[in-house]
Amino acid sequence: MDMRPIGVFDSGLGGLTAVRSLWRILPGEDLVYFGDTARVPYGGRSRETILQYARQDVRFLRSFDLKAIVIACGTVSTTSLETLQAECPLPIVGVVEPTCRRALAVTKNKRVGIIATRASIRSGAYEAALHRLDREAAVVGRSCPLFVPLVENGRFRRGDVVIETVAREYLAPLKEEGVDTLILGCTHYPLLEGVIADVMGPEVTLVSAGEESAFELKRLLKADGRLADESRRGRTEFYVSDQAEEFEQAASIFLQEDVRHTARRIDIERC
Ligand code: DGL
Repeated sequence: MDMRPIGVFDSGLGGLTAVRSLWRILPGEDLVYFGDTARVPYGGRSRETILQYARQDVRFLRSFDLKAIVIACGTVSTTSLETLQAECPLPIVGVVEPTCRRALAVTKNKRVGIIATRASIRSGAYEAALHRLDREAAVVGRSCPLFVPLVENGRFRRGDVVIETVAREYLAPLKEEGVDTLILGCTHYPLLEGVIADVMGPEVTLVSAGEESAFELKRLLKADGRLADESRRGRTEFYVSDQAEEFEQAASIFLQEDVRHTARRIDIERC
């Protein structure tokens, strides 16, 4: 048993969808979450800038005595995972590999779609992982840059004409390619599950990145005998790089739980 917390980080508050999955899949674990709300979004930035930010995020988290780190951010996972793993002695779990394994387990026609930020699609990380796991898989990727700002502005519900119009346009090429499985490769997209499912239709299975990395982490900790006491309910500490109150309000939507007065602001540039 290992009662040390797990560090989780994201470019902002989107990674809270991963926190929600961790609460469900690893309820006994303590978590330390960092959201880089001062510098979000990462998804349109260069690889060098994303790596620089990610290194600072990891350095901040390592000021706690952690047993593992989860990169909730799709953009950091696709661009910087190997470098961060090489630089840090702790186990670091990203979202790409576990999500691809799951997608290949559910696809019947081996045509897999992936939607994510520009940086993630540009990295080719999902395509590379899918082909590494199954050379016959056909992969269709599409960046959806308007999804993140729309979700952050609360425009993610079924019946919202703006998000539904944008989703139809982004997803049309994936439908035309006949994918039967679609990877939601960005932290914010699980909130769009209803809208995306309506556009793609019932024959397409949606695979959410955050959930798969939580299962992967559980496997890893279990294999090493380092799960926390599963009979308790773990605690989560929240840290952000910009206004805590704004984060708390949005976080309550993402987590579907009231987290007012729980977040602390830190200066990430000094980490
Ligand atoms: N967290 C990012 C991701 O999952 C989305 C937001 C951003 O662009 O920073 O790719």
